Amino acid sequence: MPKAIKKIGVLTSGGDSPGMNAAIRSVVRTCAYHNVECIGIYRGYEGLIEGDFQIMDARSVRGIINKGGTMLKSARSKEFRTTAGRQIAFQKLSEAGIDALVIIGGDGSFTGGMIFNEEFDFPVIGIPGTIDNDIVGTSHTLGFDTALNTVVDAIDKIRDTASSHNRLFFVEVMGRDVGHIALNVGIAGGAEEILIPEEDLGLDRLVESLNRSRKSGKTSSIVVVAEGDKIGKNIFELKDYVDQNMEGYDVRVSVLGHMQRGGPPSCFDRVLASRMGVKAVESLLEGKTNYMVGLLNGVMELTPLEMAIKGKTKINLELLRVSDIMST
Ligand code: F6P
Repeated sequence: MPKAIKKIGVLTSGGDSPGMNAAIRSVVRTCAYHNVECIGIYRGYEGLIEGDFQIMDARSVRGIINKGGTMLKSARSKEFRTTAGRQIAFQKLSEAGIDALVIIGGDGSFTGGMIFNEEFDFPVIGIPGTIDNDIVGTSHTLGFDTALNTVVDAIDKIRDTASSHNRLFFVEVMGRDVGHIALNVGIAGGAEEILIPEEDLGLDRLVESLNRSRKSGKTSSIVVVAEGDKIGKNIFELKDYVDQNMEGYDVRVSVLGHMQRGGPPSCFDRVLASRMGVKAVESLLEGKTNYMVGLLNGVMELTPLEMAIKGKTKINLELLRVSDIMST
């Protein structure tokens, strides 16, 4: 018989994403609903090792559903990667009487949680919080939708100035090793080309495509570049390449950077966060452990953490085709 769960800890770890606060709120309130104590752990695994804990009740999460970032702060902990660090973390949890953990974060955070579960048989459930959408077992990670809207808004603004000056803009977006943000915002922002790590366009085809655009009467262009794209040149080298190899282009670069992680979560992310928090806590109370909650075909499902981490998300080929047709 697994030990009854009376006290649940919640932490946010790795890169923050919009919707993390809404997920914390959901975890805390679901605990309150089921008469389970909830403890907030500050600064991810760093705070876990230091015992930086705070009792949380339903009222302590008021007014945060609409806030970006994470009220519990986040960190990437080197110490938690060591056996000694995890041993201290286990001790701190035991001293505080915490029976289970909800980990809100990305694949790095889940890897830590999974190892911790295996070493100490400690119940953990993950909520996928990252703007990158690079986790298997959910169609949407928390913050992805908000980041898409933030980036599309930025691209619309860049388009205004690009078309006023007949310029070509290379716009770099986040996503680590995957191109989900780039592909979606490229379509939504009417980009002439989208460069993503999953598809090697190659410099020749890029130049061809830009020439085709110009011949077809386009006076300004936007090329969305995923930060993990492997065209062989970084975005500034791409600009230099076009400057040197193509006549008549006035090229600018815009690297959107960390603004993509901020801002109030979208309605979609607030609802997703609320659903994920409920599912995470109730799964723990049902004795489930070492899973991640996710949205699959509109339903909350559990995926083993190992699969969530080791699997590789696939790019949507239909979107790729749509983007090709749209850039005609
Ligand atoms: O994983 C989220 C993310 O924002 C990636 O898109 C990006 O590559 C990375 O984190 C940036 O990390 P940091 O905040 O440590 O610079």
